[in-house]
Amino acid sequence: MVNIDRRDFIAFLGGSAAVASMTAEAKADALEDYLTATEAGGGGTASAPRPPTVAELTAQIPTRTYRRGVGRLFSVEQGTVPLLEPMPSKATLADFIRLRFQAVSNHCLQSARMARKKNMDEEIVFACLIHDLVLSVMRVDHGFWAAQMFEPYVSEKVAFAIRHHATLRFFPDHEAGYEYPDLYYRMFGSDYVPPPHQQEEYKRVRQHRWYMAPRLVTVNDLYAFEPGVNVSLDEFQDVIGRHFRQPKEGLGFDGSPVAHMWRTAANPDSPL
Ligand SMILES: [Fe+2]
Ligand SMILES: [Fe+2]
Repeated sequence: MVNIDRRDFIAFLGGSAAVASMTAEAKADALEDYLTATEAGGGGTASAPRPPTVAELTAQIPTRTYRRGVGRLFSVEQGTVPLLEPMPSKATLADFIRLRFQAVSNHCLQSARMARKKNMDEEIVFACLIHDLVLSVMRVDHGFWAAQMFEPYVSEKVAFAIRHHATLRFFPDHEAGYEYPDLYYRMFGSDYVPPPHQQEEYKRVRQHRWYMAPRLVTVNDLYAFEPGVNVSLDEFQDVIGRHFRQPKEGLGFDGSPVAHMWRTAANPDSPL
C-alpha cells in the first residue's frame, strides 16, 4: 500500500476545483504521474520532484498489468473499466467524442478553445479539437494513428497537423512560444532523447511549408487541468460541420480503409 499525502496530491493536480472537474480516468492517470514523480523521484515532494531517468522508468514496466502505450478505452491504470453506453446507428464524430473519447475530449476542447481565442485559422482550431482523440484507442505513436484514422474525413493540412504534432512536442520552438514540457521529463525520463526516426521527422517537418500547422497544435496543447473549465462540444459543432466530412453511413460503416479503426473504438469489449 502506497502512502499518499492527500493535500500534496491535490496541490499537484492544481487544487480542489481542478480535481472536481476531472473524470475518474483523468484522476487515475494523474495519480500514476504523481506516484512516478514522487517515488522514482527518490521520495521528493511532488512540487519539486527529481524526474525519473529512462532506466528507472524501464524498471517500472514489469510491475504493471498493462502496457502504457494502449488506449484508455482498453485499460485503466487503477480500478476497473466502466460499462460503455451503446453507440447510435450512423454514429457521428460528435457521438464518438461523447461516448468513446470522453477521457481525452476535455483536453482537446480546451486546446481548441485556446486556439480560437487567439483567432487562429479555423483549420488549426479543428486540428486542436481532434488532435488527441485517438489516445482512447492508442497512445504510442499517436500522431500517426490519429492522422490515419482521420485522413479520409479531413483536409490534407489538418491530417498533417495531427500527424506531426506528437513529434514536435519533443522539440522546442521559442519563437513560436513552445517550450519542452516539464511533464515529459517525468513521462519519458530526465535523460530521454527522441529516437532517430523522430529526429528525422522533425527535420523534415521543420522545412515543410505547413510546419506551423502542427506547431500551432503544440502551442495550444495544454496538460494543465484548468480549474472549472469544462468546454462544451456545442461550441464547436459549426467547426466540425465545416471541417469533418461525416460519412452518411456512420463512422465505421462507410467502407473506408480506416472504418475498422472506428468500429474498434465503438466496440472495445469485443473479444475478437
Ligand atoms: Fe498529442
Ligand atoms: Fe494534447
